[in-house]
Amino acid sequence: MRNIMVTGGAGFIGSHTCVELLQNGYDICVVDNFSNSSPAALDAVRTITGRDFPSYCCDLLEEEKLGQIFEEQQIDAVIHFAGLKAVGESVQKPVLYYHNNVTGTLNLLRQMELHGVRRLVFSSSATVYGENNPIPYREDMPTGQTTNPYGTTKAMIEQILQDLCKSDSRWNTMLLRYFNPIGAHPSGLIGENPNGIPNNLMPYIMRVAQGALPYLNVFGNDYPTRDGTGVRDYIHVCDLAVGHGKALDALFAQEGASIYNLGTGHGSSVLEVVKTFEQESGVPVPYQFAPRRAGDLPEYYADAAKAQQELGWQARYTLADMCRDSWNFIRKQGAAEKKAGDSE
Ligand code: UFG
Repeated sequence: MRNIMVTGGAGFIGSHTCVELLQNGYDICVVDNFSNSSPAALDAVRTITGRDFPSYCCDLLEEEKLGQIFEEQQIDAVIHFAGLKAVGESVQKPVLYYHNNVTGTLNLLRQMELHGVRRLVFSSSATVYGENNPIPYREDMPTGQTTNPYGTTKAMIEQILQDLCKSDSRWNTMLLRYFNPIGAHPSGLIGENPNGIPNNLMPYIMRVAQGALPYLNVFGNDYPTRDGTGVRDYIHVCDLAVGHGKALDALFAQEGASIYNLGTGHGSSVLEVVKTFEQESGVPVPYQFAPRRAGDLPEYYADAAKAQQELGWQARYTLADMCRDSWNFIRKQGAAEKKAGDSE
């Protein structure tokens, strides 16, 4: 059985991908510093799959410790999710972001090389398409015109991985560019629930629906889109997880670096997300229009043809499914927290 190291495996996309890999018959070993996640997510992965696996609390900046994990584990490939991801914070703390994301990846690559592991799936982002490309985004478009340090770290790491594959034909990488992942596992046991006031649309809608925040700020209603609000390609996190499974299978058969968009190929506006959520949950989401958010683009979505043709992968879940599963997770989590509080 192939053994896959999953860095950032306790995070939102990482935990869903762990479920998919375990269900596809891979063994996994998780490396996470739990800075924005919890070991409880890994217990939930064990519950969902009925399978156990090792996990290590390790920061990729701790290169020696990382090396020891490679000594202990027989690793066949790595899926690399670990990284800081808050766009606004990256503008405030660029050195932190470059150090954590880029140096962390370089440490990982060095340890992989030292231990003869040369297959990597990298968690990239549609943000690498920058400001100047026409929609829909295709994998062969130029990248690099990023608007914030977080996005630049993704573009830099993509470049590093492509250079590495060019330099040594034993290296194989898959660069997966995610669009906007939302939703949660249908079990409601894993999902996304960031600390503090959320930056992203769906977690913010959840807080408003829970009554923890009074209303949603819709950033901009004067964009040149069908209803004036921003349009994005929202994709169910379980579809993304399946995409990783397919990419990993293909990684063992390919040579060099490949790039795939993981999106639905279809955009939804902020108001369409709000309306769909209200329909699915039966809970009203009050909102008010606010000024545009700096750095936001009016509209983008994926050209999803390449992943379909070459990986045989296509998103299956609808926006209604995404809203239903996000809400199911939040409600279940609220119930679990209440139960824990009652028994204290
Ligand atoms: N939005 C609101 N109100 C909010 C939050 C968001 O109106 O409170 C709007 C935004 O203006 C945008 C849309 O909802 O039109 C989606 O915003 P998100 O913050 O959820 O997501 P972004 O598209 O800005 O960014 C996401 C990830 C980035 C990643 C990018 C890649 O957060 O990490 O997709 O495309 F880089």
